[in-house]
Amino acid sequence: MASCSCYSVNFTAPSFNPNKPLTSPPNQLLPISRFSSFQSKLPLFSLHLNQNLSQTNFRKSRVAPTFLLVASGEKAEPLRVMISGAPASGKGTQCELITKKYDLVHIAAGDLLRAEVAAGTENGKRAKEFMERGQLVPDEIVVMMVKERLSEQDSQEKGWLLDGYPRSVSQATALKKFGFDPDIFILLEVPEEILVERVVGRRLDPVTGKIYHLKYSPPETEEIAARLTQRFDDTEEKVKLRLLTHNSNVEAVLSMYEDVIVKVDGTLPKQEVFSKIDNILTELLERKEAALGSLAA
Ligand code: AP5
Repeated sequence: MASCSCYSVNFTAPSFNPNKPLTSPPNQLLPISRFSSFQSKLPLFSLHLNQNLSQTNFRKSRVAPTFLLVASGEKAEPLRVMISGAPASGKGTQCELITKKYDLVHIAAGDLLRAEVAAGTENGKRAKEFMERGQLVPDEIVVMMVKERLSEQDSQEKGWLLDGYPRSVSQATALKKFGFDPDIFILLEVPEEILVERVVGRRLDPVTGKIYHLKYSPPETEEIAARLTQRFDDTEEKVKLRLLTHNSNVEAVLSMYEDVIVKVDGTLPKQEVFSKIDNILTELLERKEAALGSLAA
């Protein structure tokens, strides 16, 4: 009977690439013949560890091992999602629903900028001038701000949902250079005549951060209605400027994500829009899991 030597290695493997967390099932038994193809998926750290183990194994045993047990504590890759669309196409509304179900870290460039404005920082003061004109805030303010948030541990572990970024080729190029590539780029499509009505009717709850619309998504109680606020750039005049900026950049950005773009009709009621996005993300997760399974087969 053929003898078989197995080793169990438990460690928390480090992420060697911030955008490519480890992808292997926990406590997986791998035929040694498949080890070389699998090891290319592991970081250098575990590669060395397992090569050493393998040598130890050969030395200790008279018969070459048939299986090697590798790396427990590893997780499937989390989702990396970009969501884009014209001003008021429903990005923020869908992000609320997506994060609730998928527990991704929601990173909204506009929210990060408004936080700087509210804090009265130098960057915030400068950003506000551009936001008032409906123009893109310069890259030197936005790019590192988003990159730092994407690099934080929670974004790496839970996955991220990037909202309203990138909005220019230079931002997309910077993201690629930093190694942040999305699994999917969701584009919400809404015609312009609907967008203006959505913007002027939008209200925000400063306590919960929830987005409302006076007509399409009214507040649930009088108490909430009384505390709602309006964004400083939510006027008809300003949304038209924001739309001009959006229209002059969108095609170039889309061309950089051609292979992962999914277009969704954003004119449907918000739960129906979410249902479409939900199907897309569920399928994506299933594909990731299947890929993981095929690695083990
Ligand atoms: P940002 O805050 O990102 O604004 P935006 O892109 O103009 O998008 P909005 O937040 O206005 O809309 P949304 O798509 O999230 O819609 P929402 O869900 O709220 O950016 C603001 C500014 O910051 C920019 O102009 C720029 O100056 C700067 N900036 C941001 N990112 C930048 C970057 N990367 N680089 C440089 N500068 C940057 O919905 C809108 C309304 O519609 C709500 O009232 C909602 O209740 C309602 N609604 C939503 N969905 C539906 C539906 N399905 N049916 C009916 N009503 C709906």
